[in-house]
Amino acid sequence: MNKTVFSGIQPSGEIHIGNYLGAIQNWITLLDSYECFFCIVDYHAITVKYDVKDFQDRVWNAIIDNIACGIDPEKSRLFIQSHVPEHTELAWILNSIAPMGDLERMTQYKDKSKQHKENINAGLFTYPVLQTADIILYKATHVPVGEDQVQHIEFARRIVKSFNHRFGKIFPEPKELLSHAPRILGLDGKAKMSKSMGNYIAIGETREVLQKKVMSAVTDEKRIRRNDPGDPSICNVFSLHQFFTPSEKRDEIETECKRAGIGCVDCKKLLINGIWATLEPIQEKRTTLLKDQNRLREIIYENGRQCKQIAENTMGQVKEQMGIR
Ligand code: TRP
Repeated sequence: MNKTVFSGIQPSGEIHIGNYLGAIQNWITLLDSYECFFCIVDYHAITVKYDVKDFQDRVWNAIIDNIACGIDPEKSRLFIQSHVPEHTELAWILNSIAPMGDLERMTQYKDKSKQHKENINAGLFTYPVLQTADIILYKATHVPVGEDQVQHIEFARRIVKSFNHRFGKIFPEPKELLSHAPRILGLDGKAKMSKSMGNYIAIGETREVLQKKVMSAVTDEKRIRRNDPGDPSICNVFSLHQFFTPSEKRDEIETECKRAGIGCVDCKKLLINGIWATLEPIQEKRTTLLKDQNRLREIIYENGRQCKQIAENTMGQVKEQMGIR
């Protein structure tokens, strides 16, 4: 069986280290063993209010950031959803298969309609249908997602089963690939790192801002004086060292913190160096990409054209099976 990965990326602005550690790093490991489709989902993004002026920038930023973080657009098909109109065409067809009751149960829909009371539109409601179309147009077998998207993938599986049953078996049942992403907490050490909480470190952070942010991060709150021993197991700064500091150094920090051998300020300085060692090359790559945007556009448009061919092929099969000619 061939293995195909599809994942959708919301063009939601700055990527932070939580996204990077939780999602992008996992995707990079898939590039060699799967055929990978990574799609900037602009048609999903318009289901909530957005600023038309900024929209193109958001989409292209998402492209550039993902490439800078290591999603090679020549090893995978990184493309823009609206470049392949078959996504919406198939979504309409799937709308006539999708049970209303299933859609009403979706927690993301319930959450979003609470958040955007003034704009509960039909697109928000059928969002998982478009997501299903995204996945099955390329007959994806695996969908790398976070915990919050599992319900949508289960929904996609139900739609696939019901399509295959009624019209003939043409789609594999997609499985979620849960990225065993550790929960990355924000600088407050309490809530999950997220843009909306404002507790994040963006991958584009300058060294100065990075420094300020890490210096303001909450540590073991019981450790008040420099001479108090700390408890690394409840310290968020220490938990970030896990991702940015080589294990020997980290073990040393752990021991020293417990015996008050290292203070929070020095511990944070080491973390800043570790994070910067990850961010600096990403930012350099970004600068290089920005210098040759024409070439970048050409690659992304070409990926779109390749995706469109696959999508047209699938649509041909779908219509054939459904008696639409
Ligand atoms: N709904 C996903 C999210 O909010 C984005 C998405 C759109 C997606 N289409 C997809 C994810 C297809 C996986 C597969 O993050």
